[in-house]
Amino acid sequence: MTVSKVFAISGSLRAGSHNTLLLHAARKFTPGDMEIEIFDGLREIPPYDRDLDNPEDRPAVVNDLRRRVLEADGLLIATPEYNHSVPGVLKNAIDWLSTDWSGTEGRPLHRKPTAVVGAAPANLGSVRAQLALRQVFAGTETDVVVKPEVLVFRSHERFDAEGNLTDETAVGLLQGILTALQDKIDADRARRQAA
Ligand SMILES: Cc1cc2nc3c(=O)[nH]c(=O)nc-3n(C[C@H](O)[C@H](O)[C@H](O)COP(=O)(O)O)c2cc1C
Repeated sequence: MTVSKVFAISGSLRAGSHNTLLLHAARKFTPGDMEIEIFDGLREIPPYDRDLDNPEDRPAVVNDLRRRVLEADGLLIATPEYNHSVPGVLKNAIDWLSTDWSGTEGRPLHRKPTAVVGAAPANLGSVRAQLALRQVFAGTETDVVVKPEVLVFRSHERFDAEGNLTDETAVGLLQGILTALQDKIDADRARRQAA
């Protein structure tokens, strides 16, 4: 069986972030043939600069992030909602992952099988951030899972003291979106083998 490698990014830098905890829960509840690696370098990604956005001039951390996304079979993004949208740190990383001005490297997000989840303490559970992120992913031509939607609302009630996701509905939805992501990865693999 081919193991699918999924690269995961949390849009929150906060210690104890519910979105980062959601990614840890995803690692626990993956379908058997999926491995999830959680990115821990978002804080180090500098502001996007078009003048530096080529292989020779990009900061090494950006080239490394691009390589890891290019090599991954799929992406998993957990986004908080900041002011009804995507946190700037996450959008900034996405901008660095969207380009290939030379036409030789490949756009890391182009057609990448991707799942979006989110958690927020409010009752809307990050829905506006997730919709904003879907709009961004239309721009990057990213292949985003449509359903199920994983909106962990009242997120402070969904984890235990050790940070485990304990809400059964949320666990079921998380398993559902990971299975849907696996389906997209399988389809993408078949498409590339046929090409
Ligand atoms: C700058 C800022 C803006 C926020 N704006 C919203 C918002 O528009 N809607 C919302 O539901 N929560 C908002 N929140 C609350 C976040 O959803 C909450 O801090 C959440 O726990 C962040 O996710 P995390 O636990 O992964 O850090 C905001 C928080 C911050 C710091």
